[in-house]
Amino acid sequence: MKTPVAVVGATGIAGQQVLAALDGHPMFEVAALAASERSAGRNFEEAITDPSSGMRRWYVESAEPNRDVLRLEVQDARSLRLNDAKIVFAAVESDAARELEPLYARHVPTISTARPFRMEPDVPLVIPGVNLDHLGLVREQQRRRGWQGYIATLPNCTATGLAITLKALDLRFGLESAVVTTMQGISGAGRDLPALDIVENIIPYIPREEDRVKIETCKILGALGNGTIDELPLKISATCTRASVLAGHTEAVAVGLKRPATVDETTAAFEDFGREFTALGLPNAPQRMITVHRNPMRPQPRLDRDAERGMTTSVGRIRPDEVLPNGIKYLLVSHNAAMGAGRGAVLLAEYLLRFGLAG
Ligand SMILES: NC(=O)c1ccc[n+]([C@@H]2O[C@H](COP(=O)([O-])OP(=O)(O)OC[C@H]3O[C@@H](n4cnc5c(N)ncnc54)[C@H](OP(=O)(O)O)[C@@H]3O)[C@@H](O)[C@H]2O)c1
Repeated sequence: MKTPVAVVGATGIAGQQVLAALDGHPMFEVAALAASERSAGRNFEEAITDPSSGMRRWYVESAEPNRDVLRLEVQDARSLRLNDAKIVFAAVESDAARELEPLYARHVPTISTARPFRMEPDVPLVIPGVNLDHLGLVREQQRRRGWQGYIATLPNCTATGLAITLKALDLRFGLESAVVTTMQGISGAGRDLPALDIVENIIPYIPREEDRVKIETCKILGALGNGTIDELPLKISATCTRASVLAGHTEAVAVGLKRPATVDETTAAFEDFGREFTALGLPNAPQRMITVHRNPMRPQPRLDRDAERGMTTSVGRIRPDEVLPNGIKYLLVSHNAAMGAGRGAVLLAEYLLRFGLAG
């Protein structure tokens, strides 16, 4: 018997990644879809078809929409009938998430890709394979809020690749500081970025992004304390830009380590990272959390964002940093909407089900 799940924000970029990850899934089946009142009452195919051009707004390059899902009714997210769903995937913009997610979490585990609850002390902000022990917060959340379910959030998609690689380094060498400059893909901004601004261009500012990357990364790398997370006191300097790339966030990272590391030791720390987690064999887990490239022309977003269905973080150009004490630097590419949102949410749900935290 498969576990029924609901997908809210199904018409958007992150929601469609959830649907792609659920297609033919061995553990889950889609029982309900929802979006805004603009889409409600239509079937999924109508809801994602532009009436004037007849074109489908389907954003997952590597997969087609499932035929059965195309026929499902899209409900209004505010009055969602769960149809026995045991987990809700919520992939809606911030204001809607703040209002909607508690409605679902009262009843069932709700996995959110949105921002409003990420920094609440009793809400786990998790990346599968990095800090799943933070799920220890959900019992406290249920107790405090009187909910049968709970909210578990995924981070900002820019923090995802950064936190995965920093965790690998922290475990082996300890972290003092990190400097990151990002070149982020367009799809990270949702469907509605003004297209002409980005053509042949780099937008030098993404509102609120740099602060989010800093605070969320410190929470993810923190330790589970007594009903809350003790954040890692890591100094992070972030510059976030939007580049003329459809999907995939590229980040140039320099890290000051507590203990010195050679390039070979750093490479080994990345390649060894997360083996216990990947060995669980969860359906959407990558073979490797981090894939290291030796070719200095890699990673590139177009070539590497879809590696392992967008679930591995591709790293290259590992070299010493001459400025930071015990400095090492590298580039990474991470798929913002796959590991950074929808498919990462499904991987988290697989873990919750396997370990009795949902279902
Ligand atoms: N895109 C990424 O790579 C990415 C990565 C990490 C996290 N996120 C986060 O994931 C969330 C969704 O992002 P996205 O990029 O998928 O956005 P998007 O492509 O703009 O899609 C937004 C979705 O939210 C729905 N929605 C909007 N207002 C709503 C309302 N009032 N009530 C119910 N549903 C509503 C939309 O439904 P309609 O079609 O009916 O308008 C659509 O399904 C955001 O919080 C974003 O920050 C996105």
